[in-house]
Amino acid sequence: MARPNTDQLDPDKIKANLKTRRIGRKILVYNRTSSTNDIAAEYAKNKNNDGLVVFAEEQTAGRGRAGSKWQSGREESIQCSIVLTDYKLNPELLSLTCAVAVADGLGIIGGAEAKIKWPNDIILNGKKVAGILLESKLNNDGGAYILGIGINCHQKQDCFGPELQPIATSIDIESHSITDRVSLAKRLLTSVEHWLEVAEYNSEKVTEKWRQLSIQLNHRVKLIYNGQEFAGNCIGIDPEKGLILQLDTGGVRMFDAAHTTIVKSS
Ligand code: BTN
Repeated sequence: MARPNTDQLDPDKIKANLKTRRIGRKILVYNRTSSTNDIAAEYAKNKNNDGLVVFAEEQTAGRGRAGSKWQSGREESIQCSIVLTDYKLNPELLSLTCAVAVADGLGIIGGAEAKIKWPNDIILNGKKVAGILLESKLNNDGGAYILGIGINCHQKQDCFGPELQPIATSIDIESHSITDRVSLAKRLLTSVEHWLEVAEYNSEKVTEKWRQLSIQLNHRVKLIYNGQEFAGNCIGIDPEKGLILQLDTGGVRMFDAAHTTIVKSS
């Protein structure tokens, strides 16, 4: 099956009929760049660039959380970074809201709902389809957040190396069809704008949606927090303090996204 000719990322095509007011006010598409998060960070020095989105068809130094690499073949993914200079949310709620926005933007694909593996992975049928890298560039006059999003779209199973094959997937694989990345980009930006607005006036709605989409809620989670291992049952999320575990060792404890790495969720 051939890719639709509308698939190639283009600012005018993404902007056509895009109903957002903030996210995507300015859209840039790079043919090839190091990391869209780095380009977005440069634009974030100017407060007027709130809502600007940088896409790239190819990244030479794409990165993920905790120093990991984010790799994708050319034109196979959505790789974008959104500049947020006008933010009112605490980092934990912002991170939660971004995950809800990406999962909700993907919606149901091939009969499966996109789910959240806290803090930043989006899962389809038990495999990772997208990742989020939220970076802060805070300084004395406020600064900015850069919301980096990578979504696997056109990868076939053998595009992932042997160690990734059991845990990674793409939208094409799960939908048994060819994704139109321009349409998906519009859905993504619309969802990010929607959920950022919701979070500002009703954070409970965000946590409620997170509970609905979480693969970890009411399941055992093992994690490393500041170098120490913890295990327990996930009993919820706090919009300021992060993941809530009923610890195996007794007691309840919260873990913020910035200092936590998930080892295992079952
Ligand atoms: C992760 O899964 O650890 C997060 C992956 C985030 C990847 C995206 S692609 C666009 C943006 N630019 C980057 O270098 N990283 C993010």
